[in-house]
Amino acid sequence: MNKTKRNTCRLVFPAKSVNEGFARAAVAAFAALADPTVEELADLKTAVSEAVTNAVVHGYRDYPGDVTLDLALLEGNLLRVKVRDKGVGIADVKLARQALYTTAGDERSGLGFTVMESFCDKVKVASRPGRGTTVTLEKQIRGRA
Ligand SMILES: Nc1ncnc2c1ncn2[C@@H]1O[C@H](COP(=O)(O)OP(=O)(O)O)[C@@H](O)[C@H]1O
Ligand SMILES: [Mg+2]
Repeated sequence: MNKTKRNTCRLVFPAKSVNEGFARAAVAAFAALADPTVEELADLKTAVSEAVTNAVVHGYRDYPGDVTLDLALLEGNLLRVKVRDKGVGIADVKLARQALYTTAGDERSGLGFTVMESFCDKVKVASRPGRGTTVTLEKQIRGRA
């Protein structure tokens, strides 16, 4: 059953590394409505950074394009962030999600998905080669209560 949305926001920006910081700040501002703890906010920002960085460096490694961020604050203070690119896509999502797996050689650690998983309650990856990738992150905001 779909949960009622208390608030939503969509952001579309070009896949440039300067926008990784912008995405972090935007998500933090949106999440503030749920009154998160400093730690919850830091975790969320880190996870979103990893997903946006992947869209920029892997998704659009060959050509420019836009990244779409869909934010939703759901019933019960569940925060959902969808990070979508229309880039190269991922042929084997299961393999890509494994710790230390990277297609970027020595430049990257291969820990992006592992970080997202450890800092969020749920991570979903939908991808089609040549069509793009959507990463959905969900985090339960418990706050200080
Ligand atoms: N948005 C994306 N588009 C295309 N490939 C991706 C995307 N996100 C992740 N990948 C693939 O999954 C691999 C693992 O991602 P990640 O765990 O973040 O490690 P890293 O970014 O350090 O390589 C990447 O090396 C890349 O091959
Ligand atoms: Mg990464």
